[in-house]
Amino acid sequence: MTSFKASMLVALPLYHLLILLLVLTSFQHATKLVLADEKLIEQQCHNAEVPATCIQCVNSDPTAIKADKVGIAAIVINCLSDNVETLAKNMSSMASTVQDKSLKSMFNECTKGFLEARRDLSTAMKELKKKNYDQTNLRVRKAVTPELDCKNNVVDKIKLAVLQLPDDVLYTMRVYEELTNAAMRIIDRF
Ligand SMILES: *[C@@H]1O[C@H](CO)[C@@H](O)[C@H](O)[C@H]1NC(C)=O
Repeated sequence: MTSFKASMLVALPLYHLLILLLVLTSFQHATKLVLADEKLIEQQCHNAEVPATCIQCVNSDPTAIKADKVGIAAIVINCLSDNVETLAKNMSSMASTVQDKSLKSMFNECTKGFLEARRDLSTAMKELKKKNYDQTNLRVRKAVTPELDCKNNVVDKIKLAVLQLPDDVLYTMRVYEELTNAAMRIIDRF
């Protein structure tokens, strides 16, 4: 076996051998990186109330594989921004379709709140890049308030049986809360 390998090596021109070695080492290196980063993502998401939501968000970003802790936090904040943008659009379209004045005004308030949250999240991202982690967390925390307010108002209307939110909107709201929790836990542990 050993002599067979040795004779193969002798038979291979030197540059083929070099290329083979390069390919093998870089492959091994890449495999190690992927494993290390999946581990980091799991570690970072582990302390969130719902790790699965955090992991799903982080893995949806193609740059996650190269991200460090701060990069992972940035990805979660990006997911939050995407969700809040969707919610603002959803609230605004619901405001324009309902007839009832009190529902219309509630949806308009929700839209305003989500637009404000989007600004807070963009400030959070700037603070993160400046390594002001306390400020980052403060902004992320602030950005969840309009969602909680909106949900409370909606729940009141649901109790009165005058409103049922579409499932996708309720789902986005839940994910938004879960990702807020994840972002704050990740940043807290820097
Ligand atoms: C909410 O917004 C998303 C993204 O724009 C859209 O795909 C979805 O259909 C909207 N849902 C409702 C109920 O408006």
